[in-house]
Amino acid sequence: MLKVENVYKTFNAGTINEKKAIQGLNLHLEPGDFVTVIGGNGAGKSTTLNLVAGVFLADRGKITLDGQDITKQPEYVRAKLLGRVFQDPMLGTAADMEIEENLAMAYRRGKRRGLSWGVTNNERELYFERLKMLDLGLENRMNSKVGLLSGGQRQALTLLMATLQKPKLLLLDEHTAALDPKTAARVLELTEEIVTKDSLTTLMITHNMKDAIHYGNRLIMMHEGKVIYDVKGEEKKQLHVSDLLKKFEECGGETSDRMLLA
Ligand SMILES: Nc1ncnc2c1ncn2[C@@H]1O[C@H](COP(=O)(O)OP(=O)(O)O)[C@@H](O)[C@H]1O
Ligand SMILES: [Mg+2]
Repeated sequence: MLKVENVYKTFNAGTINEKKAIQGLNLHLEPGDFVTVIGGNGAGKSTTLNLVAGVFLADRGKITLDGQDITKQPEYVRAKLLGRVFQDPMLGTAADMEIEENLAMAYRRGKRRGLSWGVTNNERELYFERLKMLDLGLENRMNSKVGLLSGGQRQALTLLMATLQKPKLLLLDEHTAALDPKTAARVLELTEEIVTKDSLTTLMITHNMKDAIHYGNRLIMMHEGKVIYDVKGEEKKQLHVSDLLKKFEECGGETSDRMLLA
C-alpha cells in the first residue's frame, strides 16, 4: 500500500543549521498493516509522516501509495488519499462549527460539493451511527459547537473525520500524547476499533512503548532518519518494554524521560 524507497531529507542544507532528518529511509506497508512507530526525539518520525503527506518533498528517493507515484505530488492532492491526526486536539476540527458541520466537511472531502451546503438526512444518519460508536454521547449533541468539547472528545471526533471516507493510509502522530492517561487509553481503543473495522493501513507514532507493543501488527523503531528495527506478528507480541529499551541503547539512542515514564 505504501512504499518509501531510499528517501532522504535534509533541512537547511548548507547552513549552520543543517539537519539530516531522513537518511535513506525504506519502508513497505502491506494493505491493512497497522504499524506503530517509536524512536527517540528527533529520530525522524514526524518528518517521515510529513514526507508521506507531502508537507515537504523528499530530496531523493521515491514514495508510492497504492501503486501511484506520489513523490512529487503537492500536499492538497495527497490529502484526498490520506487521513491524519496530530497531537494537538485543536488542529483537526473547526471550533466555531457544529459537530455535524465538521463531519460534513470531512465527508465531502475530495468530492464535488454540489449546490447546497446543507446536511442531508442520509448524511445525518451516517454521522449519528459513527458518533454512537465512539460511546461519548456526541451523537446527541450533533448541533453543539466543537469548541465546547474536551480535548479527548475532539481527538475522537478528528479520528472519525479522518476515517469517514476510507483513506488509503491513516497517519497518526502522537495523537493521544496531549490527553490525560484515561482519555488517551480510550482514544487508542477507538483507534484500534476503527482501524480494525475498516482494515485501514495505518502508521501510528507513539512515545509509549507499551502502546507500541500492544497495538498494531507491526512495530518499527527509527533512529537518525532510518528504520533500525522492524518486527511483526508473534515476535512483536512477545516483546517487552525492556527489549525495546535494549534496542535503543544498542544503537546509541538516548532514552528520554518521557519514554521511560510512559
Ligand atoms: N521543518 C523543519 N525545519 C528544520 N528542521 C526540522 C524540521 N522538521 C524537523 N526538523 C528536524 O529534523 C529532525 C527530525 O525531526 P522529527 O521528524 O520531528 O523527529 P521526531 O518526530 O522523531 O521527534 C530533528 O532534528 C528536527 O529538529
Ligand atoms: Mg515528532
